[in-house]
Amino acid sequence: MADLAPSKGKLAGKVAIITGGASGIGEATARLFANHGARMIVIADIQDQLGLQVAASIGAQNCIYFHCDVTKEDEVKALVESTVRDHGQLDIMFSNAGILGKSEQTVLDLDFSAFDRLFSINVRGMAACVKHAGRAMVEKRVRGSIVCTASVGASHGMKRRTDYCMSKHAVLGLVRSASLQLGMHGIRVNSVSPNGLATPMTCAALGMAVEEVEKVYEGQRCLKGVSLREGNVADAVVFLASDESSLITGHDLVVDGGFASGGNLERVKLIP
Ligand SMILES: NC(=O)c1ccc[n+]([C@@H]2O[C@H](COP(=O)([O-])OP(=O)(O)OC[C@H]3O[C@@H](n4cnc5c(N)ncnc54)[C@H](O)[C@@H]3O)[C@@H](O)[C@H]2O)c1
Repeated sequence: MADLAPSKGKLAGKVAIITGGASGIGEATARLFANHGARMIVIADIQDQLGLQVAASIGAQNCIYFHCDVTKEDEVKALVESTVRDHGQLDIMFSNAGILGKSEQTVLDLDFSAFDRLFSINVRGMAACVKHAGRAMVEKRVRGSIVCTASVGASHGMKRRTDYCMSKHAVLGLVRSASLQLGMHGIRVNSVSPNGLATPMTCAALGMAVEEVEKVYEGQRCLKGVSLREGNVADAVVFLASDESSLITGHDLVVDGGFASGGNLERVKLIP
C-alpha cells in the first residue's frame, strides 16, 4: 500500500476573515485556523491593540489585523475588498463579532437605544459580513464557506437579555436564507451555537472571574466534568469551514455539552 501523503491541514491554502477575532472565540479560532494551514487569516475587530498583538503572535506570514467596525458597511466592504486584492480571494468568512445585552432587561423594560446598538452589531453587522463575503465569493467563483456565530439563545426564549435573544434568532434566519440563496454558487452558510463559556464578554457581563463563570455554565449542561472552552467552539468552526463539511449548509451546529437536550431546567436564567 502506498504511503499516505503528509497531512496539509484541514484549511491548507485558504484565505479567511474572522470578525471579533481579537478576543475570545474569534481569537481561539484564528489560532486554530493557523494550525490547520490557513494561508492568510485576517482578524477584523475594533480592539486595535489587542488585534495587532494576536496577529503578531500568530505570525505576520499568515495573519494580519484589519480595523473594522461591523456596524459600518463601508468598513466591512473595505475589509473584504482589501483581503481579495491582497490575497487573491476569500474562502472563509467567520462572522463572529457580537455583544451581550443589558442583563436584567425584559420586554417590559426594553431600552431601545441599547436595543438598536446591539442589533447594529449582532444582526446588521452579521448581515453585512455575509453580504460582502458572499459577493466576493460569487465574483471570484469561490465555493466558499461562511460561518456565523449564533448561540443557544437562538433557539430558546430567555428570561432576560431580550434583545440578545432576538438578535441570535435573527442570525439563524440570515443563515437559512443565505444558504438557500448562495447554494447555487456552491457557497455554504452555517452557524455555530455555543452555550455559555467564560470569555471577556461573559466575564464582564456577569461580573465574575473565569472559574466562577465556568461553574455557572457547567451547571446548565447534562455533560458533566467538562468545561466548554473557546477551543471547542473553534473546532466546530474549523469543521464547518473545511471541506469535511462539504455537504452541510443551512445548519446550526450546537456546541453546548447537552444544554439544548435539557441539561438544565434553569437554563433561561443566565444564558448570554
Ligand atoms: N461567550 C459565550 O458564552 C457565548 C455564547 C454564545 C454565543 N457567543 C457569541 O460568540 C461571539 C464572540 O463572543 P465572545 O464570547 O468570544 O466575546 P469577546 O468579547 O471575547 O469577543 C467578541 C469580539 O467582538 C468584537 N466586537 C464587538 N463589537 C464589534 C464591532 N462593532 N465590530 C467589530 N468587532 C466587534 C470585540 O471587540 C471582541 O473582540 C459573539 O457573537 C457572542 O454573541 C458567545
